[in-house]
Amino acid sequence: MADTIGSRKAWGGRFSENPDTRLEAFNASVGFDIRMVREDIRASIAHARMLGTQQIIDTADAETIIDALWSILGEVEAGTFMLTIADEDVHTGVERRLRELIGATAGRLHTGRSRNDQVANDFRFWTKRQLIEVASGLIDLINGLLEISGKYADVVMPGYTHVQRAQPVLFSHHMHAYCEMFLRDLERVRQAYDRTDVLALGSAALAGATYPLDREMVAAELHFARISRNSMDAVGDRDFVLDALYACSVIAMHISRLSEELVYWSSGEFGYITIADRFSTGSSIMPQKKNADIAELGRGKSGRVFGNLIGMLVTMKGQPMTYNKDSQEDKEGLIDSIDTILAVLDVFPPMISSITVHGDRTAAASVKDFTLATDAADVLAKAGIPFREAHEIVGTLVGDCIRAGKTFADLTDDEWAAVHPVFAEQRPPLDGLGSTRLRDLPGGTAPNRVNAARDEMRALLSDENAWVTSRRAEQDDIFTRG
Ligand code: ARG
Repeated sequence: MADTIGSRKAWGGRFSENPDTRLEAFNASVGFDIRMVREDIRASIAHARMLGTQQIIDTADAETIIDALWSILGEVEAGTFMLTIADEDVHTGVERRLRELIGATAGRLHTGRSRNDQVANDFRFWTKRQLIEVASGLIDLINGLLEISGKYADVVMPGYTHVQRAQPVLFSHHMHAYCEMFLRDLERVRQAYDRTDVLALGSAALAGATYPLDREMVAAELHFARISRNSMDAVGDRDFVLDALYACSVIAMHISRLSEELVYWSSGEFGYITIADRFSTGSSIMPQKKNADIAELGRGKSGRVFGNLIGMLVTMKGQPMTYNKDSQEDKEGLIDSIDTILAVLDVFPPMISSITVHGDRTAAASVKDFTLATDAADVLAKAGIPFREAHEIVGTLVGDCIRAGKTFADLTDDEWAAVHPVFAEQRPPLDGLGSTRLRDLPGGTAPNRVNAARDEMRALLSDENAWVTSRRAEQDDIFTRG
């Protein structure tokens, strides 16, 4: 029989006029779903093989389809595979190319399948790969932070609350706080990955298929951990997109907080750090300027990433079951968030490694504004004075010092003893590092605790690295023709 379908839409049969060009332009997703063309082709290969094995289509036809799909994948990799607006979306575009290569046999591929389960599955498949790369970028970032933490292990700086100097802390302890945030981000990315790792194929349009599809076989070939339990949920749900968008948003928020600190630490007012010239920018008018643009962009990009999350929540909230075309709007936001986060995670680790910390400046700042006052109160409390009373005594001392224009370091032995007899015998440390040594408990900023935390995080990272390596190998394996 002649191939009468080739020049028409995949859904053309019931229509009596050709689509308006404006509809085609508005409806098409080829501009962005081309990003998951490899996943689309590879999933079709698994589907065709299963159709053949189950005798749903002829084994020879299945082989012809599979061979041609591998060569289309070759065209994608060679950069010669092209989609046009008339293709509507990547799924139809691949089928159109298949038809060009093998004729009417191509029409057997879509047996027991719909673009609804196809797109849900392709996007899950694509998202899994991207989340592996996000995890890898987070590992690089944490490594960068641990690198400067180790390099400046004995640098002390002021710790802040309310942007007021509060108590001395190790610079490393401050960096490790960010490491903890990014480690939780890693956990979130892996959780998002696990919830994404569900095969939707076999759900067809919404109700399942009338053929004996072997869904487990397809899942095994594509390395999906499990198959969906409900066909309607499988085609209608986009929670996995929201999970990935949320994971990206929290990463962006953490990046933004870190960036804010890097920007002002590198200002003349603080002078805590210098970012290397190769990761800084200048001004077209002011010859002296050196700006922390990477950090500013890192902070600024959080806006669009949060926007993508909110946008997708709103896109989903009014949709009745099951698939609606609204869901096509799931792609650009996630693609943008993933691209943004991957770009940030590419440039931040080397920028962070390039930072020089000015330990003399941070150490001097660490004891300004009476940051050792808590230590002074603790000296009294440890000598048996109720802490509230000790707080009051030291508070009065701080007030007196401010009025007299003095610091703790200016006080004579007699002046200390006059504040409280205990101070005749015991005093708080007058340096920031000495103060940090007193906080020797799990989670505290004492150097031995901070060094142990660094070792512990390095060990955690090697486990995370193993996860990335094995997941990447799994993905590479899927795309290697056996
Ligand atoms: N381009 C569509 C999307 O991204 C593919 C699914 C189309 N399904 C349909 N019934 N029109 O959602």
